[in-house]
Amino acid sequence: MLNNELEQTLVLIKPDALKNSLTGYVLSQLSEVHTGLRFAGTKVIQVNRMLAEEHYAEHRGKAFFPALLEYIMGKIHYPSEPHKQRVIAIVYQGPDAVKKVRELCGPTNPHIAREQKPGCIRSLGTVVSLKNERGEPIGDRMDNLIHASATPEEAEREIKLWFKPNDIPPFMRAFATEESQEMFYLKDQKLSRRHQTGSICILAPGDIAWQSDLQALRLLVEGSASQVPLGTLVAKYLTNETPERG
Ligand code: RTP
Ligand code: MG
Repeated sequence: MLNNELEQTLVLIKPDALKNSLTGYVLSQLSEVHTGLRFAGTKVIQVNRMLAEEHYAEHRGKAFFPALLEYIMGKIHYPSEPHKQRVIAIVYQGPDAVKKVRELCGPTNPHIAREQKPGCIRSLGTVVSLKNERGEPIGDRMDNLIHASATPEEAEREIKLWFKPNDIPPFMRAFATEESQEMFYLKDQKLSRRHQTGSICILAPGDIAWQSDLQALRLLVEGSASQVPLGTLVAKYLTNETPERG
């Protein structure tokens, strides 16, 4: 972050909020009049599995992980309407953006939210019990309407995961960017500098990228190890592509 004025946080209005017509309510709770925060970017995204897995990477391996992916991908709330399977992703910017939005959301679990913070956004959510194939309880799915970054560091990771620099006006970009001088293509989960039939262009010369993404892409295309996983680098270039690529 360059300074406190530029602090940013990622909000996702999740499929249950869309289904229950709570979008307007959430936006109004987060409006500049209430929070002092401004929009820096917004997107309507059909969440593919790669993006969902990267976003919730910290929960990989937990019993509720598969249900969490289905939830954020919109498959729970719109099982037979793929055209409605989407989330609204928003970058908010301003002093204490992360903390202010988290406070308005309230506790992760909607039952606890109702008890501890009546009136918070998540107090309008619900908890669904999950069972395995044998019908035994394995935990809960928390349909809590909204995601908000937990820390400024998480916000940086998440904003770079969901947004390209060009989704955000130049004066509102909080993280370093760089103009690519190279081509990067993706095919079968492998990066290449050369086009092959069926490959997808991730970046071309002249495209503006997050600097940290470009540094990682250069390592990975050469076969070197990178701190940033491939999925994190390419997921945002594959969103809103054809469903087969999800
Ligand atoms: P979020 O990331 O969505 O803003 O929520 P959070 O920080 O309050 O909670 P986090 O631990 O990051 O969890 C992300 C989402 O995973 C689901 N979850 N289920 N069954 C469980 O124990 C459990 N724990 C988390 C919730 O949907 C949560 O929003
Ligand atoms: Mg979280």
